[in-house]
Order: sequence, then C-alpha cells, then structure tokens
Amino acid sequence: MCGIVGYVGTSKSVEVLLGGLRRLEYRGYDSAGIAVIDPDGDLHTRKRAGKLQILVDDLDLAAMANGSTGIGHTRWATHGGPNDQNAHPHLGDDGKLALIHNGIIENFAELKNELMEQHPETVFTSETDSEVAALLVGLEYQRVGDLAEALRLVVARLHGAFTLLVLHKDQPGVVVGARRNSPLVIGLGDGENFLGSDVAAFVEHTRRAVAIGQDQIVTITADAVTVTDFDGAPVESEEFDIAWDAAAAEKGGWSSFMAKEISEEPDAIANTLRGRIVDGAVRLTELDPAASTKPGSAASAGLDLTGVNRIVILGCGTAAYSGMLAKYAIEKWAKLPVDVELSHEFRYRDPVIDASTLVISVSQSGETMDTLMAVKYAVANGARTLSICNTQGATIPRESDAVIYTHAGPEVAVASTKAFVAQVAAFYLFGLHLAAVRGTLPKEEISDLLDELQALPEQLATVLEQHDAIKQLAGWMTDTRAVLFLGRHAGFPVALEGALKLKELAYIHAEGFAAGELKHGPIALIEPGQPVFVVVPSPRGRDSLHPKVVSNIQEIRARGARILAIAEQGDAAVLPYADVVIPIPLASTLFEPLLAVAPLQIFAMELAAAKGLDVDQPRNLAKSVTVE
Ligand code: G6P
Repeated sequence: MCGIVGYVGTSKSVEVLLGGLRRLEYRGYDSAGIAVIDPDGDLHTRKRAGKLQILVDDLDLAAMANGSTGIGHTRWATHGGPNDQNAHPHLGDDGKLALIHNGIIENFAELKNELMEQHPETVFTSETDSEVAALLVGLEYQRVGDLAEALRLVVARLHGAFTLLVLHKDQPGVVVGARRNSPLVIGLGDGENFLGSDVAAFVEHTRRAVAIGQDQIVTITADAVTVTDFDGAPVESEEFDIAWDAAAAEKGGWSSFMAKEISEEPDAIANTLRGRIVDGAVRLTELDPAASTKPGSAASAGLDLTGVNRIVILGCGTAAYSGMLAKYAIEKWAKLPVDVELSHEFRYRDPVIDASTLVISVSQSGETMDTLMAVKYAVANGARTLSICNTQGATIPRESDAVIYTHAGPEVAVASTKAFVAQVAAFYLFGLHLAAVRGTLPKEEISDLLDELQALPEQLATVLEQHDAIKQLAGWMTDTRAVLFLGRHAGFPVALEGALKLKELAYIHAEGFAAGELKHGPIALIEPGQPVFVVVPSPRGRDSLHPKVVSNIQEIRARGARILAIAEQGDAAVLPYADVVIPIPLASTLFEPLLAVAPLQIFAMELAAAKGLDVDQPRNLAKSVTVE
C-alpha cells in the first residue's frame, strides 16, 4: 500500500521518481503524485487520481524536468476517496513545502481541530490525515527554519503508523523522511541517494541499501545520509547488499508477473534450501546468537530454543496457509504443539504467551501491519520471535529475534504464489532443525526427509509443464459463478489457498473446505454441474486418507458435482469419478502440497486472464497491507 520514493542527486529526479513508482505499482494504489524542486529553487507538484500513466501524461515536464531533488507517491486511499485533491503530495508553509505519507495518523482529527483553533485562516484542500501533517510541518518550519527539526517536532505528536517524506523549496537538495510502523529504506548511490518504501524503488540505480529502524528520521542529500532517532540523537544503521537485481523484477517476456512468478517456483524452493542442508542435516546459521536481527540490540540473543514448549504461527492470507502446513509438519516431526492464527485476531483476544512460547511470523513483504503489530505484542509479552520473510530490510524481521529469509526473489504480482512454496520450504527446514535439536526424529529420517525436500523443485517443474492443459480447462470455465475446493490434512490448506487465489484473481466466489466437514453443511451447496476441485492424498502410506477422500468424491458426484481432481500420477481409484484429473508426481503427505498448489494457482490466473482481468493488480487489493 502506498509507494514512496525520494531522490537527491544529479540526475533528472522526475525520471528516477517515475521509475521508482512504476516498480512500486505492485503495492496497490489508486492515485499518484510527485514534487520536484527545479534548479531555480521553485517547487513543482502534480498529482492525479488513477494509474501512474495518467499522472505521466499530465506532467509539466518543461518546468520539472531538470530538478534533481524530488519525492513521489502512489496512494491507496484510507482517509478520503481516491481523487486528485486527496492524492499526495500535500503542501504546507504556503505551498513551499511538500509532504507524502504512507500509513494512518490516528489522532489526525484532534490535530486538525487544534490547527483550526490556533490558525483559523488555514485552508484544507483535502480530506486526508496527511495534509494535516504537511501543514503542521510547515508551521514548525516557519518557527525553526530546519526541515529535519520541523519534522522531528511533528512526528513526536503523531499517533499511528506513518512513513513521511518532506522537502522544502528553501532547502533544495534535501529530502527528510521519518518512519514508525511503516516501511522506509535508504539507497546509497554515488553522488546521489534514494529513499523508498522498499528496495524495488531504487534497485535499478544501486544495490547498496540501509535499513531504517523504528521511530527514526533520515536526511538525505546528494552526498550524505544522516539518521537520528525521534529525539534527534544520531543512530548507527546497517548497510546491506540487495540480493536481486532490477532484471529480477521485470516480466522478462511473460504475459504477466504472476505467470513468471509461478514459473519460478522450483527456483524459489531450491534457493530457499540452498546452503541450508549440509551432510544430511539442516544448517540455519541465522538462528545463531551472533545473527540477531535486532539492530543495535545489546541482547543479541539469536534464537534460543531451549525450554520452548509451544509455537504460535502468525500470518495473513496466503502466508497463514503456509503456517497451517508448518503446524502439521512441526507437530509431526518435532512433537511440539503449534497454533496457527490470523495475525489480526491474535492480539485482541488476550492470548496466553510467555517466554516459553516461540512466535513465528510469516510474511512475504515483512511489512503487513496486522502481522507486525501481532509480533510487537508477542515481544512485549516476553515471547521469543522468529520471522519467515522474503524481503530484506523489512520491518517484521527487524522486530524479531531471528529471521529465516525465503529466497523466492521479488514477488511483484499482488496475489502471492512463489512466496508460498518458499515459505513452506523454510518452515519445513525449521521443523526438521527443531526435530534434530529436540531429538524427536532419528538423524537418518531427517536426512531422508531432506532428500525428499530437495527433490521437490524438479518434481514441481514437471507439474508446471501442464500449464497449457490447465489454461484450456480455465478457458472453458469463464462463466462459472462459484467453485468449491476440498482437501484433507495437508490438502486442506491447499484447498483454502486454491479458493483464495480464485477469489483474488478471478473475482469468483470460492470456498475451501476440509473434505471431512462437507457432510456437516457445505454438501448442501452441491447441485448438478457445481465444479469442485479435490486435492486427493496419495494412496500410499499407512495412514493415507485416500479412501476417505475418494468416498467424499463419490458423495458429491452422486449429487451432480463436476469433479476436478489433483491426484497422484497413476491413482486409478480416482479416475472413474473425476471429470478432469491433474496428475502430480509421487510425494509423501507433507510434501504433496508443494506440488498440488501450482495447478490451482495456474487455474485461477488463467481463468482471470480469460475473463480479461488484470492478474497482477486485482481490484481493491494491495500487496503490502501497511494499515490495520
Ligand atoms: C495481502 C495480499 C495477499 C498476501 C497477504 C499477506 O492481503 O493481497 O496476497 O497473502 O497480504 O502478505 P504478506 O506480505 O504478509 O505475506
């Protein structure tokens, strides 16, 4: 949500800002704007509702083109509708200062009333909380004459979550930013510096980045970067190298980012495992004490697993479903009780957690506000915290004791695909690590399971070869009004994820059910012709739920359902009852989801594409949901 870019250097800032905003489009937005200081010291702003191209077409390039200090913003509406007035930047100090904002200022109404009382002449041009911040920074600037100091004085009065960037025509060559519970990263260039909501904003210019901690202020000029806390005291920041290059975030000939990202799933798993399996055992050096992710923390404790007697996994959307699979794996392998909870439910119900609880958050972006606030609650209540995250320098890992990064590469399409399989792979590594630490599985068994895990990328590549057949199936179903998804045990989260993908991408009503629950209600939905995807477990194995799922298929088929089965290659028992079978290679129960989910992702994507929808940026959704 909301993309933010800031630039000071020698290049034409308009180009840098628009390039950055383009790369941040995936975050989800409904209006865009930029502010640039030109070489004569004049401030130019432009903002328009709608897609970035509408802004580009409207820019007064003759006036702006040579300015080398600027800020740019894509807005996802919270306070006030998505129109030109509410778009950012907002102005202060009689139009001499421009401000952009991501997040929500919770006490803005109070601050606005105060402003109207003390300065009745104030004219508000929008309905936003952000404009109040712009006006307040403008007033402080008039008083103290320094932008960083003015911003510092204002943020001290703000409640809620915010990233703010400001520039002032009287301080050309300076952009100041502040952040609390909302993302902001610095990009270090040669004679130029950048700010961005994430590294995608500037990765085409530099791969050197610096993470900014909570409640910090950053000032960039062309040659210098200064970071202080909200009290003005200097803080040390850590520099890191961005692991992927700009090309990784390009479509590269695919019809959509999502098509490309699904094709990258085998690599996402392989890269997440790479270097972490040594001599048949898991090696997660990031859990060692020296690898603590809390910057400047004296308590570089790493992740001490001694005495942990319970695990709570927190996430939202797709990430939460990867957590459900982690529960099954960790309970089976490491014999520890695991609860999985949606982050936004967790902290509002007085959950029982303490120092013996390990809270694992899972988030592709590492910025999802619901998950961040839940992690903070866990930290405040003494729990140990581990983050599973795909984005370097993101906030959630920085708030956690340790992080296992997934190496899925940049995920640009709003709905998550390759990040899911990478999250599951990371969770499985951790589960097997925990089993080794706790002595709950013999070494040989861990080694065998790791061999299976390492075989998955190749197996998954064969599943992806069925893309065209699944596309054809999706093409026949564009008039479908509702689709049901069934699975049991490890197939259940896959069913939930299949339904979520179809809702997100194709705007079709879809529900995922545990197949055993069918007879307790959902079976009433079955009528002739109703399409039902069934994730069928392998018929092999002592405890296989295969016969039970085949019975469930028969129950709904008898009532006219159209069965679309995802089943193990050669599973003869399913053939007589299925209208369509999508075969997947043999894998043991917990690994099957990593093979079964891709056909459902492809189905949702191709059905949406066949309906003419934008699969990368579905309506109303944002990739990085930075408000609660
Ligand atoms: C949004 C996206 C989902 C994603 C969820 C969690 O709702 O639309 O696709 O699964 O956020 O995102 P995270 O970055 O925390 O994994």
